[in-house]
Amino acid sequence: MDKLKTRILQDGKCYEGGILKVDSFINHQMDPNLMMEVAKEFSQHFGDAHINKIVTIEASGIAPAILVGYIMQLPVVFIKKKEPKTMENMLTSVVHSFTKDRSYTVCISADYLTLNDHVLFIDDFLANGNASMGVIDLCKQAGAHLEGMGFIIEKAFQKGGELLRQHGIRYKALATVESLENCEIKLR
Ligand code: G4P
Ligand code: NA
Ligand code: NA
Repeated sequence: MDKLKTRILQDGKCYEGGILKVDSFINHQMDPNLMMEVAKEFSQHFGDAHINKIVTIEASGIAPAILVGYIMQLPVVFIKKKEPKTMENMLTSVVHSFTKDRSYTVCISADYLTLNDHVLFIDDFLANGNASMGVIDLCKQAGAHLEGMGFIIEKAFQKGGELLRQHGIRYKALATVESLENCEIKLR
């Protein structure tokens, strides 16, 4: 997706440890026009899949996910990172974030993820794929079918993409970062 790639090269910033900061258009300030273009790309790419629900994980996945849900006219559910006291029929999975070097529990109510669901998962980044493994686990617990995963940006120098391929999961990244070495953003 050319518009996204241009924007990453123009406004993205490299940080220590292979982190790409995109705070000016995705992770803090958001560009709704770019997000809409992103959502259209995902909708087109997964248009042939039989999907009845969009799932994301808070917080940064919510914006693109809700736009995909709007375009595809499907409900959007976000997986939470804090266990709410009042959630009914809660399914949980522990995720260890390599990027942040900490573990956290993700949760979703089994009221909104069931064996009748065919899910498209949407998120901002695919890094080491630990969050994605949590999503796979929650879908398995619920008996839901994970039809595909869409990421705005994949960092190909980390192992998330490989992990998803190993699990036989269909996924799409709209921009792929090959390297951030010497603080130079190299896109595929
Ligand atoms: P991990 O296995 O390496 O920990 O990666 P994972 O895909 O689980 O991502 C952990 C968190 O770090 C995610 O967001 C993800 O979006 C973010 N992340 C990973 N690499 C990068 C990067 O290079 N740049 C940016 N900006 N974010 C990255 P989160 O912090 O858990 O949540 P939120 O931002 O959606 O609230
Ligand atoms: Na995220
Ligand atoms: Na993030």
